[in-house]
Amino acid sequence: MKILVIGSGGREDAFLWKFQKEENVEKIYISPGHSAMERFSKVSLLGKKDHAELLSFALENKIDLTVVGPEAPLTQGLSDLFSANGLKLFGPHEAAAKLEGSKIFSKHFMKRHGIPTAKYETYQSYDEALVGLRNWPVEEQGIVIKADGLAGGKGVVVAHDRAQSEQTLHDFMVNDKVSVKSDEILFEAVLPGEEVSAFALCHGEEFFFLGCACDHKRVFDNDEGPNTGGMGCFHSPSWPDQQLVEKIKEQVLKKTLKGLQSEGTPFSGFLFMGLMIDEKSDPYVVEYNVRMGDPETQTLFPLLKGNLSQSLLALLNNEPLKSRDLSLEELCSVHVVMTSGGYPSIDDTPLELGHTIQGTDSVEGHLFLAGVGHNDSGDLINRGGRVLGVTALGATIEEARELAYQDIAKIDFKAKHYRRDIGQKERGQGR
Ligand code: AMP
Ligand code: GLY
Repeated sequence: MKILVIGSGGREDAFLWKFQKEENVEKIYISPGHSAMERFSKVSLLGKKDHAELLSFALENKIDLTVVGPEAPLTQGLSDLFSANGLKLFGPHEAAAKLEGSKIFSKHFMKRHGIPTAKYETYQSYDEALVGLRNWPVEEQGIVIKADGLAGGKGVVVAHDRAQSEQTLHDFMVNDKVSVKSDEILFEAVLPGEEVSAFALCHGEEFFFLGCACDHKRVFDNDEGPNTGGMGCFHSPSWPDQQLVEKIKEQVLKKTLKGLQSEGTPFSGFLFMGLMIDEKSDPYVVEYNVRMGDPETQTLFPLLKGNLSQSLLALLNNEPLKSRDLSLEELCSVHVVMTSGGYPSIDDTPLELGHTIQGTDSVEGHLFLAGVGHNDSGDLINRGGRVLGVTALGATIEEARELAYQDIAKIDFKAKHYRRDIGQKERGQGR
C-alpha cells in the first residue's frame, strides 16, 4: 500500500514511525514534512503543496490511503476533494469538521443530541453580549469566553473577574489590535473536574476506541505560563477506568456519531474528545477536535498493537472493525516535549532557532522529531517551537517518567526548554 501523510510535526512523525513498520506498506509520502522524516526508510518528503497539487500527486501516484494530521486541511475540504475523486482519505468532510472549526456549531450540535457539556449562551453583537455578560454570575461561578472559529488556542479565556471578562469580550469582538477576531461569541459555565482527552477511529457509526491521554498545555511547571500546543502528555491504563470509558462511549462517542449521521454529515476519521470528568465521574465535552492530538499521538502510538494502515483502510471500506487486530498495550506512557527558547512567543518575539541538536542517537525510548531541519553541514538543528519529544513506557507512570527524563537529559541544544513535571500529578486520584 502507498500512503500519503499530511502535516509536519511530532504527531505526523509518529504516524510515519507506525506505518513504516507495517509490512503491507510499500511507500509513504509526507507533505510538507521536515527533512529528518526521511530517516524512516520508506518515507519520501514532498514539501509544501496546495490541495490541487496534493490531489494530482495522489492520483498520479495511485495513493491507497491518505491520513491528515492537522485540522486546517479538513476544515478546508481536503477530504471532500479526495473522496470526490475516488481516493481514500481518513478524515472528515468539511461539514463534519465543523465540529472543530466552529465552537458554536459544536455547542448547538451537542444540545440537539443530548451530549453532556457546559451550559452556554451565544451572541452575535458586542452590545448584546455585554448585556449577557452583565447578567452572568462571573464572581460566583466564573465564565469561559470563547471566540468562534479556529484561533490556535488563543480564543479561550477562563475568567473569575468581571473586569477581565469585559476586557476579553472587547478584545475578541471589537479590539483590532488583538489577533483573535470573532463576530459571534460563546459564553460557557466553568466545568469543575479533571481534564482528559479520548480518541477514537470512526467511520459512520462504526468505531474503534483508541484510548485516553492527558496533555499538559502550559509552558512551565505547575501549569504556569501561557498555553502551548502541548508540553507533554501521559497515558495510564488505570484512569479513566473501564466504567468511565464505557460512559464516554455511551454518552459522548456513540451519540456524537449517531447525531452526525442523522444530520446527513457522517463522520469519518479520528475523533478527539476533550473532556472534563466531574466528581461523580461523569464526562462533559469541553471541545471536539477532528484529528489526532499532538503530543497525544506520540504518547499513544508506541502502545498501539496491530496494523493501523490496514485498519484505517478497512474502516473506509465499511468493513467492521471487530475483525481488526488493533489494541492498546496495558502499560503507562509518558511523553516529554522539548521546545526552542522563547516558545510559545505570545508577544511574537523571535524564537531561538538554528542551533545544533546533540544526543538524539543515545535515546533508548521513542524519539519523535517535530520542529527540526538540517543545516548546510548536515547537522540536525531546531527550526520550530516544539522541537522534539521522547516517549517512554513503563508498568507505572513513575517508571515511564523516569525513563523519559533519562532520555531527555541526553539531548542538548542551545536555549532548550522542557517541563520537569510531566505525569507528576496523576488524574483520578482520591476516587
Ligand atoms: P478549548 O479550546 O475549547 O479546548 O479550551 C481550551 C482550554 O480551556 C481547555 O483545554 C480547558 O482547559 C479550558 N476550558 C474550556 N472550556 C472550559 C469549561 N467550560 N470549563 C472549564 N475549563 C474550560
Ligand atoms: N494537544 C492538544 C491538541 O492536539 O489539540
